[in-house]
Amino acid sequence: MNLADKPTVFSGAQPTGQLTLGNYLGALQNWVAMQEEYNCLFCVVDLHALTVRQDPQALREQIYDLAAVYLACGIDPAKSTIFVQSQVPAHAELAWILSTFTQMGELERMTQYKDKSQRHRTNINAGLFTYPTLMAADILLYGTHKVPVGADQKQHLELSRDVATRFNGAFKPIFQVPDPLIASSGSARVKDLQEPSKKMSKSAESDLAKVMLLDEPKTILKKFKKAVTDSQGVIAYDEEAQPGVANLLNIWCAATNNSLENALEHFSHNMYGKLKVESGEAVNAILAPVQERYRDIIADRGELIKILDNGAEVARQRAEEMMVKVVDVLGLPPRRSL
Ligand code: TRP
Repeated sequence: MNLADKPTVFSGAQPTGQLTLGNYLGALQNWVAMQEEYNCLFCVVDLHALTVRQDPQALREQIYDLAAVYLACGIDPAKSTIFVQSQVPAHAELAWILSTFTQMGELERMTQYKDKSQRHRTNINAGLFTYPTLMAADILLYGTHKVPVGADQKQHLELSRDVATRFNGAFKPIFQVPDPLIASSGSARVKDLQEPSKKMSKSAESDLAKVMLLDEPKTILKKFKKAVTDSQGVIAYDEEAQPGVANLLNIWCAATNNSLENALEHFSHNMYGKLKVESGEAVNAILAPVQERYRDIIADRGELIKILDNGAEVARQRAEEMMVKVVDVLGLPPRRSL
């Protein structure tokens, strides 16, 4: 099928720390499902990760690791473009240009910036501030129609739309104005196993709170067995009164592809112990094949690098087509082929 026949999807994750079950159910599973209908680009956004100080050796491993996780989850390089952001220089280039179309006030309003600058008080660098212009560049470079992201990225996406509209209005409409696809299930719904009123986050302090994609099956089972519930003793779905039970029910449904109705019927005469064990087992059943593929992929670094080189090559060409238009409308000299 021709590129032009399918709308473009772009998404990315930072290579900082391992992914959780929430990331898998909420993001990666959706990405995998989108590959048929859309022309997808999935990026390891390593330049974004530099806004917080990283250990160089660990960073490089984490970049390959995240790419391996993408593949293990079912991102197929024959269908989608999978690549590392820093290997396509146009991202940084367009980010600079877009920063001149972004107001300080707009960036100052970003809640993630406010939050991160609180948490990293000794390193409030300019990159942390201009981060959303790099994200806008990621998206706008490829004429992206849809961007699957978590609710926490909605504000950044709105900024991308505003910047695209402003640029288009100042010159001519070369940028597609992207629509967010905010996950309505999955990560939005997978909650912390210890504090089920909070979203499951990879930065949670307690290990028991989060299920990592690459956790051993027995660790996963243990975390589920220790999940916090309540003292009501009845399996019903009530997010307010029984957030822990609701979370386990949601996870069981997502992992077994069942409706909530089915879940309530399935567990109708059971105690919490059974719900905990069965949710853990269901999660292990969906993660087992992912973990097995991950182990194969990570063991063959050469092949992984080849896939990423190919992805970067495809992305560079596509990005370059956009940069030709960008420099043209801005009045910069024409691009020489790279
Ligand atoms: N900012 C996103 C996050 O932290 C990652 C990201 C960077 C991204 N560029 C993107 C997501 C472009 C979607 C599209 O989760």
